[in-house]
Amino acid sequence: METIQLKGIDLPISRLCAGGCPAGEYGWGNVDHKEIEAAILRAYELGITLFDTADTYGLGRSEINMGETLHSYRDKIAFATKFGVRIENGKTFYDNSPAYLEQALNASLKRLHTDWIDLYQIHYLDGITPIDTLMEALLKHKKAGKIRAIGVSNVTLQQAKEFLPYADDISTVQEHYSLAHRAEETSILEMKNLLNLSPMTWGSLGQGVLTGKYDANVHFDANDRRSRTIYDNFYGEKLQKNLRIVEAMRPIAQAHNVSVAAVAVRWILDYLPRSIVITGMKNPRQAEGNAEAMSFQLSSAEVDALNVLSKE
Ligand SMILES: NC(=O)c1ccc[n+]([C@@H]2O[C@H](COP(=O)([O-])OP(=O)(O)OC[C@H]3O[C@@H](n4cnc5c(N)ncnc54)[C@H](OP(=O)(O)O)[C@@H]3O)[C@@H](O)[C@H]2O)c1
Repeated sequence: METIQLKGIDLPISRLCAGGCPAGEYGWGNVDHKEIEAAILRAYELGITLFDTADTYGLGRSEINMGETLHSYRDKIAFATKFGVRIENGKTFYDNSPAYLEQALNASLKRLHTDWIDLYQIHYLDGITPIDTLMEALLKHKKAGKIRAIGVSNVTLQQAKEFLPYADDISTVQEHYSLAHRAEETSILEMKNLLNLSPMTWGSLGQGVLTGKYDANVHFDANDRRSRTIYDNFYGEKLQKNLRIVEAMRPIAQAHNVSVAAVAVRWILDYLPRSIVITGMKNPRQAEGNAEAMSFQLSSAEVDALNVLSKE
């Protein structure tokens, strides 16, 4: 397993990270609890040491599933979770205040069955709490041992610049990125250099479209977030383009004897320096298909061909 060091974390971190959004068992169509547990366990067996979740995924269900499944292996794995999205009385809003941070952190620790969180990430900035106030609160919890490293998520380059005085304490930035979505690529690379951090990519499989199992007739039921057109990878011209990328990945996957999903993951690993690729998974077969990305490398011609096609 290829690993990377993150500021603040001693454990070697696998460049493939198991994503826990479907493990929230909500908004991803039919998700089977036993299959989710088996997927998390399989990811661990395959050498993955980083598990990403958030307090909001299934309103805590994802953290509970990860905490319960990985409890026996706690010192061999790193938990990455997030705070800052607050859901109360049916309303969703962002809150980075120190009081809410403390409440959210203690709740995540409890759900994850742990005394510490390896990577605690600011899910979204609330635009109200001053960065100094937020960072002082996070550093207080870090000093107390509840957090080992700090990450940001869904920030613009402009917002990332506000973290410059705290660059030594920012280990990662999580952004939407894949062969199907490269809108933030320039700012991701600039943030990496500016804050000397590792980019973590979410939606790395284009929410599933880059796995090669969907076609032009794709349809999702109402209990699946991808039924909403905001998940634009599955609609219109974007879907057509994504299917062309899939067709280009098929012979590459065949040549390396890996899944199409593995090619989509491998492309990010080989193209985006120091990146960690997060992939959501619903069952052990998906964990295995994604982990095949760690068994090979793309040639520079293959990286270039997919780069050109996805940039068109
Ligand atoms: N920071 C943030 O704001 C943010 C936002 C979103 C996600 N994330 C994190 O990033 C992770 C990854 O993003 P994501 O889960 O939204 O999308 P993703 O990884 O691009 O796609 C995940 C979906 O693809 C399908 N899939 C996965 N592996 C497969 C395989 N090998 N073969 C076939 N199908 C496969 C599954 O859905 P189907 O089987 O139903 O197709 C799975 O739910 C999340 O789990 C979460 O940890 C963070």
